[in-house]
This record gives sequence, structure tokens and C-alpha cells, in this order.
Amino acid sequence: MDRRTFMQTTGTLVAGVALGARAFAAADGFAAPAGRILPMNRGWRFLPSVPAGSHAANFDETAMARVTVPHTNKTLPWHNFDDKDYEFVSLYRRKFRVPASAAGKRVFIDFEGAMTATTAYVNGQRLGEYKGGYTPFSFEVTGQVKPGENQLSLEVDATERADIPPFGNVIDYLTFGGLYREVALRIVPQSFVANIAVRPKSVLTKPALDVVCFTDRGKTGQTLEVHLEDGSKVVATANAPVAGLETKVSFAKLPKITLWDLDRPKLYTVRVRLIENGAVLDEDTRCFGFRHAEFTENGFELNGKPLKLRGLNRHQTFPFVGQAMAKRAQRRDAWILKNELHVNIVRTSHYPQSRHFLDACDQLGLLVLEEIPGWQHIGDAAWKDIAVDNVERMITRDWNHPAIVLWGVRINESKDDHDFYTRTNALAHSLDPTRQTGGIRTGDNYKSEFLEDVFTINDFGWPLRAPSHPRQLNTEFCGHMFPTKPIDNNERQTEHFIRHARMHDAVLSDPHYSGAIGWCAFDYNTHNNFGSGDRICYHGVMDIFRLPKPAAAFYRSQIAPEKEIVLEPAFHWAIGDSNEHFDTAMIASNCERVRLYLKRPEGWKQFAEVEPDRKQFPHLKYAPFTVDLKNTIGWDWGDLKIEGYIGGELKATRTLSGQGVDREFVVTADDTELSADGADVTRVVLKVTDEFGNVRPFANDAIVLKLAGPADLIGDNPFALFGGVGAVWIRARDTAGTVTLTATHPRLGTKTVTLKIAAAVPESV
Ligand code: GAL
Repeated sequence: MDRRTFMQTTGTLVAGVALGARAFAAADGFAAPAGRILPMNRGWRFLPSVPAGSHAANFDETAMARVTVPHTNKTLPWHNFDDKDYEFVSLYRRKFRVPASAAGKRVFIDFEGAMTATTAYVNGQRLGEYKGGYTPFSFEVTGQVKPGENQLSLEVDATERADIPPFGNVIDYLTFGGLYREVALRIVPQSFVANIAVRPKSVLTKPALDVVCFTDRGKTGQTLEVHLEDGSKVVATANAPVAGLETKVSFAKLPKITLWDLDRPKLYTVRVRLIENGAVLDEDTRCFGFRHAEFTENGFELNGKPLKLRGLNRHQTFPFVGQAMAKRAQRRDAWILKNELHVNIVRTSHYPQSRHFLDACDQLGLLVLEEIPGWQHIGDAAWKDIAVDNVERMITRDWNHPAIVLWGVRINESKDDHDFYTRTNALAHSLDPTRQTGGIRTGDNYKSEFLEDVFTINDFGWPLRAPSHPRQLNTEFCGHMFPTKPIDNNERQTEHFIRHARMHDAVLSDPHYSGAIGWCAFDYNTHNNFGSGDRICYHGVMDIFRLPKPAAAFYRSQIAPEKEIVLEPAFHWAIGDSNEHFDTAMIASNCERVRLYLKRPEGWKQFAEVEPDRKQFPHLKYAPFTVDLKNTIGWDWGDLKIEGYIGGELKATRTLSGQGVDREFVVTADDTELSADGADVTRVVLKVTDEFGNVRPFANDAIVLKLAGPADLIGDNPFALFGGVGAVWIRARDTAGTVTLTATHPRLGTKTVTLKIAAAVPESV
């Protein structure tokens, strides 16, 4: 296999597993030797065009904006915009200083992701072009840089280039543009650790470990020493002489280890040292976990125990800035999926996502199906070569994440292509013998060639067909079959809720289904020929601001009550169109029974006592409750109280106002402190509620925002609520201080949130 076929013009664009496609794990979180990875995210200059001569070292930058990475080439409203607005080629320039300590060493510039094609120049000299928006790339610039100041210049092409996946036909999402993930300078010795693949073995019986160390220009006589670390404690060591590009360092026996699982996602670190004549030449670390994950003939198993997969798909795009959201926001999405939606798996539809998101999945205990970029269309031979290379970049970047249990190695919903998919599967298996592959096909493609280990299929149909393959996983359902806006009436919200609940119920009926991953977690921006006509697919169980619709309540309720009691009405008590459309109310809860009361002048009057609806949902452990309103309260109306009971004991109460009046304006920030690194962000949620804290879905007031202090607002201002809610983000600048956001509702008053912006470690280059 020629892993370099995607390269266009350069000898310095790094390719291949052993050539350092990954320097990123150590950039942040886990210590690498001082000076090895030098972040270059601040101090960029940006221009939304590329004037002639702009890559020259002495190009006049005065007209260029000062920006920090992650950066979007265009800020946009959250909907109703034209995606052509961001489809242009931009110029990014940055000066960087190569320290004196780099003398005699090798220098790389590592890019975690830029949308969609990047041509790089150093000191006016063209390095090459990388084609791909979701995968990391790296240029070796040892021969191009000099000690002291150097100039990096990038042309970042955000047009939908037919030569690069996912483009070539239509796609149902927007890719946006810009230098949207981090950049770093990497300074390493002539021989260095280029990558590490940590492969736990027989973890359920006799745990052992292979650490495959990839060295660049490694030599006979050098040794690789590996420490297995639990926090700051070294628990085992092993070593082996360097043996070519790939050296396996094995731990045949290990001290007692703790498994990584969903409740206790225990992580370990390997520290790899490249040693010559007793001196450490280079050192790097990777984080990983001991777990056994396998799709079997009888469903998915984690650590030898069956686990029905209950998940949602996630696009990584955000309102206003597209993909350019910093670490904290990426991590927050994983937190929401794990702790608000209580799913056990997420699919990174339809591309490799931010490492920050994946790190958070590891740390929180949330499984991941990760797949290569693409959507239905397969391009020509060169295009396919890029897709095959994407498999390699995805896997070699992410093979140590315990959270990842399946590689998606087909273009989402593409037709069979025997040779192409034989290649992607073979490559995935050769790079990572520890994980199975899947490849997502459409629901009408039941007969498609089964080249993967797991038959992953977007089965939107209902009733769900009997499983046709061993190791079958439904990777999408609901979505475009039933888009639901937060302002839609209760009849629609109820049906949306039921469609999600019934699919998860159905996959529980047969062990041959490994589970189901619903479409999707969050509403997302899309092209004009998809979605609702405002550049949004309202397919999420949460809106684009990551705020729940009633269907989210189903996911939330599927958790043991010992961990959290959930009692969520899957409806708005502001009834909307008419009572006639709201005969049946669904309640999501892990309680054993619920009681409902209506407020009467004489007090609360019980009108229903209900058990989980096992008729409609015979398999769900926490089946939703169906409440007949038509034959109980009929046209009666007033405040509603719902009580949840377990073992006869009252465990939770929800009260919903029947008054129909907006009462409270609520403003909450997800965090209280940000780092003054110019990129750190937090979400600020805006809500109008009734007197009991329930969202008023038809509140659409314009909220006026005022920000004081060293930060910027990401979002519309004024911000008009949609479905009674909305959110903006506050992005720190690069000075410490205090930031106050003042939000004024036209009638319900002014609320403020205050954040501390703490000094950040300065960048040294
Ligand atoms: C699927 C596709 C997704 C999304 C979804 C909408 O066919 O894979 O990307 O478009 O439909 O329901």
C-alpha cells in the first residue's frame, strides 16, 4: 500500500503511521518533556482573502485581524444564513520563534485540523498542501526554519472542493471554514518517538500489555523504556531495543489493574523514553485504559458483560462559529451526553472529532463509534486515496482512547465498493488489531456486502426488521423522518419522544441487535436542500444550543434511580394549539409509579396514578409512562403536579404552571472561571420560565446583552429566544480579569453573570 498517494506536491508533508502523524496527545494534559511541544494558538493574523504576495516573509500585515485559534473564517447567525458566506480562501499568518535549543534538532509544525485544504509556507517557501478538514497533518520544517523569528503563512480553502471527502455531491451538514483546531511547534531530536499504540491484552483473565513504539530514525543500540503509570506512581516498567520503525515493548505480567468501564473510567498512562548511551533522547506519553470491548454474536460486551448500546449521533458544529469551539465546549458536549442524556455511546457523525471531545469521553466513561469523513458520495481514485489515508490518520491519532470501540471505515451511507472498502478494512485491521470495524450503510442496503466486523446500518424504518446479520448495530433512526422544533406542539413532541423510546425498546427485544444510536443529539446547521429551510436540521433531541427538547427526557430517564432519580414530563404544559391535540401525555421517569394532580381552588386533586407503559415499551427497564388526559381531566386546566414513587416512597415532584404567563428570566453560565488564553469559552444559557422553573416554549423575546471585561461575546445581540431558550458563549481574551455579562429581558428584568478570567501560561513561540 502506498500511503503517500494523497500527497500533492511536497516532500515535507508528514505521512504515515510511523512518521509522526500524531504529536498531539502530549500537547496538553499529559506532560511531555519541556520544550517538545510548543503551542502556537495565539498571535495569528487573519484576512478573508489571499492577496498576491501575501506569503512573503515581509508581507504587510497591518490590514490583517489579530486572531486566536480555534478560529472560524466567518461568524454567522445561528440560522438563516447562506453557507456560501464562508466558502472562500483565507490567509493566516503567524510569526514564530525557533528557540536556540532547537539547534541540531528536527522541527515540525503540527495542525490538528483546518477546513478544508491548507497550503503552508514557511519564510516564503511553499511546504505543500494538505487536503482534509477533519484529520491532523504535520509539516517537517527542519530545513526551512532558522533560529529566532520565522514566518508561517497559510492559505486555508473553505470551498467545497470536489477532490476532498466529504465533498463531490450534496451533504447534509455544513463544514464551515478556518483554522479551527490547535497548532503546535514540535521540536524533537534526530531520533524521536513518533507515535505510541498501547494494546492491553487478555484484560479479563491475565492482563498484559504491548506498547508499540514508533520511532523516526531510530537506530540499533537505542533502547525504548516504557513506564506504566497510575497517576504519579510507576506500577511497572519494561524495555526493548529499538527494532526498526516499530518496536514492541511487552509487559507479560502486570500488577493488579483496574478496568476502565462506564461507571469507573480508570485511566493509566504509558511513558515512553528513547534512550541512547544511558541518556534520554526523547520522551512521550499516552493515556489509555484496560478494557475488553467486543461486538459478539449476542450483542455488544464491555468487559465480558452484555451492554445494550443506547446512543446518539453528534455533529461537532456549534452556533455562530461552526467548528471553531475550544476545548471546554468540546468537553461540555461529552458531559451533556453522559450526564444529561445518560447515553452510553456516541457516534462521531460523520468524521473524526476534536481530541478534547474524545479525551472527555475517556474520562467520563462514554463509548464512541468514530468514522472517516464522508456522506453518501464516493469520488474518483484520488479521492478514495484520501479517504483511505483518513482511515490511517483517524486510527493513528485515536487508537489509545479506551472510549472508542468501533471504527467506521465506510463513507456514511455510500454504496458498496468492494475494492475500496476491502482496502479501508484491511488498513484498519492492520493498524489496530484490537478493534472491530463497522461501515455505515443505508437501511435499504440490508444485502450490502458485509466486509466489516459489525453490520452497522441506518435503519430508519418502523417496525424495526428482524436483525439480518450477526453483530448488528442500528446507527441512525428518527432524524429526517420526524424533525421536531422546540416550538412544535405537544402532539409532535410526544411522537418524537415515542419514536426514540420505541427504537431503544425494540433493540432490547433481541440480543442480535447490539443497540441503537439515534439521529441525533443536537440540532445542526445544514445546506439549503436539507433541513427546515433555515439552514437547520431540527433532528436533535436537544436544540442547537444543547438545550433539551421533550424527547431528551427519554434518554435522561434511562439510568438507575440509585444514581439519579429522573422525573421529566415529555411535554410543555403551555399547551399550544389546542387541547384536542394533547390527549396523551408522556412522562419519562425511572420511578415505579407516578401520580398526577391538578390544582383546584380547594387544593391539589389527584386525577391519575400510572405505572410504566409496559404494553408499548415491553423491554425498557425504565419504560415511559403514558397518561390519558382526555378521559381524566378532559378540558380542565390549571397547575399540574407530578409525583414519582419508588417502593411507595415519594422520590420526586415536578410542578408545572397552568397560568400561561412568563414569570422568570434565568441566565446561567456553565462555568465560573475561564483561562485568559484567548480561546477558552463558556456557554451562557438564557431561559424564560414559569414560576416553577419550566421553560415557556413560546417566549421569543429579544434579550439585550452587554459584556464588560476582557472577553468577547459569541452570539447574536440582541438575542431572540427560540422555544423560550437560547445561548451565547463568552470567549476569553488574553488578559486576566473579571467579566460581567448583563442580559436584559424587555419585561422580566436584568440578570448578570460574572466570570473570573485567570491568567494563562504564555506561549513561548
Ligand atoms: C441520514 C444521514 C445523516 C442525516 C440523517 C437525517 O441518512 O446519514 O447524516 O442526514 O439521515 O435523518
